Amino acid sequence: MTQPKLNRPDGIIIALDGPAGSGKSSTARAVAERLGYRHLDSGAFYRALTWAALRANIPADEWTALTPEQLDALDVHGAPEGRSYTLTVSGWDVSDAIRTPEVNAHVSRMAAVPAVREWLMDALREAGARGGLVADGRDIGTVVFPDAELKAYLVAAPEERARRRLREQGCGDPSAENVRAEARRLLGRDEIDAGRPVAPLAEAADAVRIDTTALSFEAQVEAVVRLARERAGG
Ligand code: CDP
Repeated sequence: MTQPKLNRPDGIIIALDGPAGSGKSSTARAVAERLGYRHLDSGAFYRALTWAALRANIPADEWTALTPEQLDALDVHGAPEGRSYTLTVSGWDVSDAIRTPEVNAHVSRMAAVPAVREWLMDALREAGARGGLVADGRDIGTVVFPDAELKAYLVAAPEERARRRLREQGCGDPSAENVRAEARRLLGRDEIDAGRPVAPLAEAADAVRIDTTALSFEAQVEAVVRLARERAGG
């Protein structure tokens, strides 16, 4: 099937979606590097809003009532820098702060709020205005960039995802018990992400599914780069 050529001066848009810990962000970053594209980690925006709301002591059970004005007041911004976006809250770089277990535990509640998703949409779409973008998240291929030239849906077995996440957090060789506990947390988040009424985690009908359970990191990056080159026309 040939896709209509869209007017994107900097290249195609690549949407990478999938459940927590499937390797979307690290793959997206490496693919962007290989292609000379920019990387948009949409989850980082939801994480920064979560961090800012926690810091502002807004109770999580009031997040569903957040207004656009209150969201503005959280002072969260994503600014393009090099090949990615730097997230700030009140001018502070929160790149590390948004990866804590506390943010992990709350972010899916923030992301389920329709007003929050709507508030972020313009900023996310703006990032793709010129193309040349690899964006990762839960609804990139279904809602944010439904006309992306390449959509990939990354999946991996829950325990493998848990192992990767624990290693990323600095646990060199996690015990079987730690892996099981982390897998339960990831599956809990997937359940909220897939069950919410607005922009749920879902595989786009025209996505290419890539199971990364048994793939090396280099192999999964290569798989996406190869597809991207085909879709971009060489
Ligand atoms: O890296 P990981 O897959 O654990 O999560 P993330 O990509 O940083 O996203 C954190 C959370 O933000 C997800 O669990 C979703 O609840 C939410 N999210 C979303 O709803 N829509 C997106 N496009 C990206 C993230």
